[in-house]
This record gives sequence, C-alpha cells and structure tokens, in this order.
Amino acid sequence: MKKRKGIILAGGSATRLYPLTLAISKQIMPVYDKPMIYYPLSVLMQADIKEVLIISTPRDIVTFKHLLGNGEKWGMQFSYAIQEKPKGLAEAFLIGEDFIGEDNVAMILGDNMFYGERLEKILRKANTREDEATIFGYYVKDPRAYGVVEINEEGHAISIEEKPEKPKSNYAVPGLYFYTNEVVAMAKEVKPSARGELEITAINEMYMKQNKLTVEKLGRAMTWFDTGTHDALLETASFVQTIQKRQGLLICCPEEIAYQKGWITRKQLINLAEPFMKTDYGVYLKDLAKEE
Ligand code: G1P
Repeated sequence: MKKRKGIILAGGSATRLYPLTLAISKQIMPVYDKPMIYYPLSVLMQADIKEVLIISTPRDIVTFKHLLGNGEKWGMQFSYAIQEKPKGLAEAFLIGEDFIGEDNVAMILGDNMFYGERLEKILRKANTREDEATIFGYYVKDPRAYGVVEINEEGHAISIEEKPEKPKSNYAVPGLYFYTNEVVAMAKEVKPSARGELEITAINEMYMKQNKLTVEKLGRAMTWFDTGTHDALLETASFVQTIQKRQGLLICCPEEIAYQKGWITRKQLINLAEPFMKTDYGVYLKDLAKEE
C-alpha cells in the first residue's frame, strides 16, 4: 500500500476563544485530562500514520515541541513547521510540500475530536483509497459554521460549500481529509476566498470535479466535536469525562494506541507512566502494561 503521512494543523488565532487564547494556543488547551492536540493525533495513529507534521504559529510551535518532542517516545516521527498567518487550511499542503514528498497524506485539524467504535474501520477504508480523496459527512442540526456537502444516493458529493447561509444538506464536513499526493499541486491552484483564506473546500471541489472524491458518512453512533468555542470546549470535555468515568477506558490516549499497535514495548509504556503516577492517567497506563 502507498505510504500515507499525516499533518495536524494547529495554527490560527482562535479569536472565538478569547480571552482564553490571548497568550496560548487553542490546541494546547485541556479537553478534560489531555491537551487538545492528543485527540487529533490519536486519530492519525489509529489510521496507522507514524510520520506527522505539526503546523502551528510562530508563537506556539515551541510549546508543541515541548509537549510532543520528536515522537520517538510513542514510536513515531514528528516534524514541525510554521504557518506565519492564518491564511487557510489549504496552505498546509504548501507548507508541508517537502514533508509530503511523494507520499499520500491525511490532514486533521488540531481542534477536531472523533470518537466511535467504527472509527478505526472507517479510517482503514479511507487509507486503502490510494488514488482518490476521502472526506467525511457528519449530520448536524445546524451546519452553517462548516463546510457542507450534499451527497447523492451512490455516496458521491454533488455539491460542497464553505459556511453557506442556506445549506443544501445537514452534512457538515469534519476537519479530517485523506488526500492523494496531487493535493500539493492542487493547493497551488487555490485562490484566496472572500474571507482571504485558501479554503480546503476549494480542494475538495477540485477532487469532486475529477470524480475522485468519496464522502464517507460517519453515522449517528459516531461522535465528532470541533472545539472552537467556549461552549464546544466545555461540552467536549464533559463528554470525555462522562465516558471515561463510566467505562474506565481513556478516549484518545496516544500511549495506549502506540502500545496496542506495537510501536512501543511494555517497558517503554511503564517508563511513560512513571512521571504521571499522581493521576488516573498514569495509573491507567501502568494497568495497561500489566494486562496480557
Ligand atoms: C474549517 C473548514 C470547514 C470545516 C471545519 C471543521 O472551518 O473550513 O470546512 O467544516 O473546519 O472543523 P473553520 O472552523 O476553520 O472555520
């Protein structure tokens, strides 16, 4: 199978979260017991992606390096790049051109959180589509704040619009995109939109026009949050707390995923747990290492 690398876009000024984000990055803020970026990172890990480029602002990139390092502790490889100004999601493929090289790529937004039993299966399927793009459709009551996709009976996109005032469907497009290597060339063709950004929706439109865009519906048993407002941030944290307390299983725990995938050894897992032993998180990791 063709190799696929991952990009996490964790830039932007997050003005919708002011004053929280006046001095720190949104994607470093807590979602219950973990920094926000652990959630999208866990999704890429579940998609078997080990090489990840983290893109953030000149101010915040250092913080992500402190938090995540070179990825070795989780059996991964992390690189870092700067987006000088919030000029749009599609710019990630220009910034990431050298990193992507000849490979396919998946991009996830640093404030998107996915959870659900079928997720791993869905990701695997998207991974196997090597010569076309996969995006996702998630039913929401009010999709006006998102990219909105209209899907025909065969599951093909027939229209896709960015933040439409009159949405043609209830399917929002979450911030997770599986693209072919051609996305780099496509990003070079994108012109700034009315809000002055290189829109990801423009890229999706290009794939759609070439008949190379699959839209995978996530279904009602999947959870998707974008944590971009005060309410959404708290609701996501409450969701994580509720499920984790009930099940005693962590949502989007990178150490657990790395261990399950065999990217780190039992010994490494124990070492990772050591400094966290004052928290339930640390105890959880230690217990994992005890299981057969
Ligand atoms: C971006 C995309 C939008 C997508 C959303 C998902 O919007 O432009 O198409 O639906 O992320 O989180 P933003 O939240 O950056 O305005």
